[in-house]
Amino acid sequence: MKLRDIVERRQPPEPWAEGEKIPWSDPAFSARMLREHLSQEHDAASRRYNVIDRQVAWIHRALLGGRPTRVLDLACGPGLYCSRLARLGQPCVGVDYGPASVAYARAEAEREGLTCTYRQDDIRQAEYGIGYGLVMLLYGEFNVFRPAEARNIVRYYVVDAESGAVQRHASATQAYTDDQCREMLAGCGFDEVAFVDSLEGPEGEAQQGLKVIAAHKRAPPTWEDADGRVQDAGR
Ligand SMILES: C[S@@+](CC[C@H](N)C(=O)[O-])C[C@H]1O[C@@H](n2cnc3c(N)ncnc32)[C@H](O)[C@@H]1O
Repeated sequence: MKLRDIVERRQPPEPWAEGEKIPWSDPAFSARMLREHLSQEHDAASRRYNVIDRQVAWIHRALLGGRPTRVLDLACGPGLYCSRLARLGQPCVGVDYGPASVAYARAEAEREGLTCTYRQDDIRQAEYGIGYGLVMLLYGEFNVFRPAEARNIVRYYVVDAESGAVQRHASATQAYTDDQCREMLAGCGFDEVAFVDSLEGPEGEAQQGLKVIAAHKRAPPTWEDADGRVQDAGR
């Protein structure tokens, strides 16, 4: 890109046409973002620890009923939720494609001996296996994946002051109605869809228009095959 391309940029931008996302998986960007995830000055990359503590308490108590289950955290960042859930007895698998975040999460788990494993992978392609009691995708990340249409588009131009080289990153966000969410979840076999205003629970502090969507997927029916082995419809 050139500086002139900024002046001549298309207004309004076309959703997802100019880029997928901010460059989370770029090593240098990931290292800079890690500082922001861990910052206690703002909630821009991850929530501050006191908020995450309250959210994790609600997830553990209300969503999981305090019982241990395997948790899968998609786009887990530096594992701030996994590590806390593991301390409460919930074994966790976190997947993220930010190298610095995953390295931090792994080091934390190793240092404390937590039952957390992390994979550095793109959640759109990763194999996560089966057998999870809770799958999470937090902090509105669901809405930035490419759907049919978008509502908000943000462009970021990074200009190298010395060379004038320009890099563009664009990030689009899709809004869904509650009925669209229900329909999408039903299409994947989820029911009992509940909308909650805060990840701290119904009484908790609502956060910048983010909502919690909690849904339940029943275990597939099981039967015994001719050799007496238990089979299920998910296999
Ligand atoms: C706003 S941060 C939230 C991190 C974490 N869930 C939290 O709340 O602390 C978004 C995260 O999504 C990750 N991410 C975005 N797209 C991804 C993808 N396709 N595959 C894996 N991780 C992804 C980024 O690397 C980043 O860590």
